[in-house]
Amino acid sequence: MKEHIQHPIFKIITQAATDLKVDAYVIGGFVRDIILNRPCKDIDVVAIGSGIELAERVAKLIGKNTTVKVFKNFGTAMLMYQDYEIEFVGARKESYDRGSRKPIVEDGTLEDDQNRRDFTINALAISLNEKTFGELLDPFGGLIDIEKKIIQTPLNPDITYSDDPLRMMRAIRFATQLNFTIENESLQAIRKNRQRIRIVSKERITDELNKIILSSTPSIGFKHLFNTGLLEIIFPEMANLHGVEFIGNKGHKDNFYHTIKVLDNICPNTDNLWLRWAAILHDIAKPATKRFEENHGWTFHGHEDKGARMVPSIFKELKLPLDHKMKYVQKLVRLHLRPIALVKDNVSDSAMRRLLFDAGEDIDDLLTLCNADITSKNEEKVKKYMDNFKLVEKKLKEVEEKDQMRNWQPPISGELIMETFKISPCREVGTIKSAIREAIIDGELENNYDAAFQFMLKLGKELNLNSEA
Ligand code: CTP
Repeated sequence: MKEHIQHPIFKIITQAATDLKVDAYVIGGFVRDIILNRPCKDIDVVAIGSGIELAERVAKLIGKNTTVKVFKNFGTAMLMYQDYEIEFVGARKESYDRGSRKPIVEDGTLEDDQNRRDFTINALAISLNEKTFGELLDPFGGLIDIEKKIIQTPLNPDITYSDDPLRMMRAIRFATQLNFTIENESLQAIRKNRQRIRIVSKERITDELNKIILSSTPSIGFKHLFNTGLLEIIFPEMANLHGVEFIGNKGHKDNFYHTIKVLDNICPNTDNLWLRWAAILHDIAKPATKRFEENHGWTFHGHEDKGARMVPSIFKELKLPLDHKMKYVQKLVRLHLRPIALVKDNVSDSAMRRLLFDAGEDIDDLLTLCNADITSKNEEKVKKYMDNFKLVEKKLKEVEEKDQMRNWQPPISGELIMETFKISPCREVGTIKSAIREAIIDGELENNYDAAFQFMLKLGKELNLNSEA
């Protein structure tokens, strides 16, 4: 392993450990990631003794006013060196109380410390001691598990997951990020202990969920979350999408599998977490709006509006932000059917302009979402829809180039209306403003100041308003 720890910081730690006569090891995610060839800037160092003292000694050797951040409550210390963030901790032995994720901690050996780790692939350590520098300590076969792409716990999985239930989310997150298999006993233990996820804070659960969503194939994680029963607990609205109902021989799409397919589809085209969330939520109201109509079969009328209305409570429950990011997701959910509706041949320019106006600067993201939403088992159908959709994109582009509706603001402002008619803010201002906007979008009025001003005067007259113009 020596070749992986060539950076000068490791020699400095070795020197500090020798000075203090303690043993030191690099452990956890950093070791896993160098073997996997994934870049990693967080180094965890475990000392068989005081982690804080080791950190302080390292800082002294580095010099240049290196500061150590000490977290007394946790017995850890952190310092930055070049672009590495290095955390020091004393080796520990942990025992858990059932009501909490916070363990009772005692000093321990390296072995105790490796025992308390979540997965074999995260329990690998590399020696930083002078005589054994670079040696890998792998008591649970973590290296083989990396080769075989397996997630399993060092000790009995039932205990590991029950002790710290966040690890159930972590197992699924690593399986998704690394495309690893979760070993069967682990999966069963997750299923068995799923209710214990309730003792984990929602913020931490959502952090893991977001990491799953940001991976290249999030459906792997969502299938695990569903099959282990975790999804039903942490995000019931999504679990609710699962299942197909039949009346006679008429069934509908399974909206859970459709949704995770849409999510996978969008990943190569965007790393924007919120656009990915829009993919997750685009059909979220399908179960709530599902009807069977004799002539049409299954329908989901209004699921886009109802879905948009569901977004705030889902974001609140998951402790996601309730600011402009939520509004953006809401907007995309509300508009997600609109581009597809423009596929018909005889669609007017005004329908295009209206969509461009409503979507504003998010039009490209909306189109990315709609593109991902084209799923079918029938390849030919997919091709046909894709071709039609490309035509819509082209037409939208043409209309946008002509009319520039994307960031368009109507030429007459509310202030000007009030000034012209000498009125204070009132209903008439809104009526006139939106009538001008609608007339321009519908192509009945030219999109310029003079035409709009004359139109405003006419509307004012109809509303019995006086102007001196
Ligand atoms: N760890 C653990 N149980 C947890 C969290 C962490 O056993 N619930 C251990 C693992 O050995 C892990 C190490 O602490 O490797 C560091 O944790 P963390 O920094 O959260 O994760 P990484 O494994 O480094 O991975 P990532 O940075 O992708 O989160």
